[in-house]
Amino acid sequence: MRNRSIAFVLISLFVWGVITYFLFLDRPIGKEQDKNLLTIQITKLESEVKHQIAINRELLKHIGEQLKKAAEKVPPEVKDTRKDPIQNYVHKAGERNQEPKEDKPKTSFSKETQKKTLPNGSPIIAVLVFSCNRITVQRCLDQLIKLRPNVDQFPIIVSQDCEHQQTADVIRSYKNQLLHIQQPDQSEIDIPPREKKFRGYFKIARHYGWALNQVFVEFGYETAIIVEDDLDIAPDFFEYFLGTYPLLVSDKSLWCVSAWNDNGKSGLVDEHAHNLLYRTDFFPGLGWMLKRDLWLELAPKWPRAYWDDWIRQPEQRKNRACIRPELSRTRTFGKIGVSNGLFFEKHLKFIKLNEQFVPFTAMNLTYLLKDNYDIAFVNEVYQSKVVSYSELKSGNIVVPGPVRIPYYTRQTYKSTAKMLGLMDDFRSGVPRTGYRGVVTFFYNKRRVHLAPGANWNGYDITWS
Ligand SMILES: *[C@@H]1O[C@H](CO)[C@@H](O)[C@H](O)[C@H]1NC(C)=O
Repeated sequence: MRNRSIAFVLISLFVWGVITYFLFLDRPIGKEQDKNLLTIQITKLESEVKHQIAINRELLKHIGEQLKKAAEKVPPEVKDTRKDPIQNYVHKAGERNQEPKEDKPKTSFSKETQKKTLPNGSPIIAVLVFSCNRITVQRCLDQLIKLRPNVDQFPIIVSQDCEHQQTADVIRSYKNQLLHIQQPDQSEIDIPPREKKFRGYFKIARHYGWALNQVFVEFGYETAIIVEDDLDIAPDFFEYFLGTYPLLVSDKSLWCVSAWNDNGKSGLVDEHAHNLLYRTDFFPGLGWMLKRDLWLELAPKWPRAYWDDWIRQPEQRKNRACIRPELSRTRTFGKIGVSNGLFFEKHLKFIKLNEQFVPFTAMNLTYLLKDNYDIAFVNEVYQSKVVSYSELKSGNIVVPGPVRIPYYTRQTYKSTAKMLGLMDDFRSGVPRTGYRGVVTFFYNKRRVHLAPGANWNGYDITWS
């Protein structure tokens, strides 16, 4: 009886999914000019989604009850099966020994004391800092420690690769304000001859895999924020992640929250829109939060190199999005190392870091949930006035509100982006900061959507 009703619920959800898919994602919304048709479509869509949300809520409640009943009957030893892929991973990565014990404060980092939440129910979020051989990690750690609102809520774990002594000394000088762990496998990596110059990317992937495993499997944290040793952080860095945390938990179409806007340069952002957030299909990285279940999903197939482009592939992304801010909550202060120094000089150093504290945890961020966001977003984008690049540049647009510059080919996207000073590259067909193909930015005091046709129905991975 119980199984049958679970099956019923699952089938209903599936049918709902299929209906939504055809109605919403794949169906051409109409001709570019035909605004009426579009409005009708969106209104219809809106009422359908609302109706379905109500039904869905009932179904989920039902599932919850069923699962609770089921859990009561499952013997406890069956519950821990999902560790297996990780064991494989650990084996594959050739882990030789445990992380060094020496620096480990026994109190706050031992497994037995691990908790998912503080006594007041607020989540515990580990901050994982990646470090190698740059003593400037100090700049990053100083800021994290200074701005950290609560030591118990945001345990800092610095994972160091490379065994660089000076850097290790710097990290150790923080004593028990953080946990210092060291990637134990310093063996030479077997790299195909043509990729020898990309050795650094292999080491980074190995380090990331090991450290994420430490945080989520060894230490058992539920949630982590990934930071690299060359990042400055905004005053509301922690508040931003804490405020968006409930979105990441409740919206399964999200897989990360990022502090980074790839087009976040002065001149391309509204410097007053401190509290403005977006969804993006482009994985931004550079200060980002993920949950343990995502790591457990990725770990068994974690790549040997180029993990960030790998994670952007459709097989990994599975249509999931990240939250990103208008104004970045991180900024790189420059690195010497594997990343391209030229890229920093030409682009990264112009990213505007938010300077004003926004009380995200006190704000209603439900507009970012997919069901709310997509309707409002599609509506705004495709109802906005179409303008040309030169009109936008001249500032001679009379209508108020956001405007749209259409693009229909990879080449027009790239040339328009270049003229505007936007990043013009694609990863797995997704332009940086893009959502449903739309790249939104701020130019000449105006919100601008660089947007594909209204009948857009997915990214073309051949666009690069
Ligand atoms: C949050 O905002 C949404 C509209 O976006 C509204 O429907 C909802 O009631 C609000 N929730 C709270 C707790 O104010």
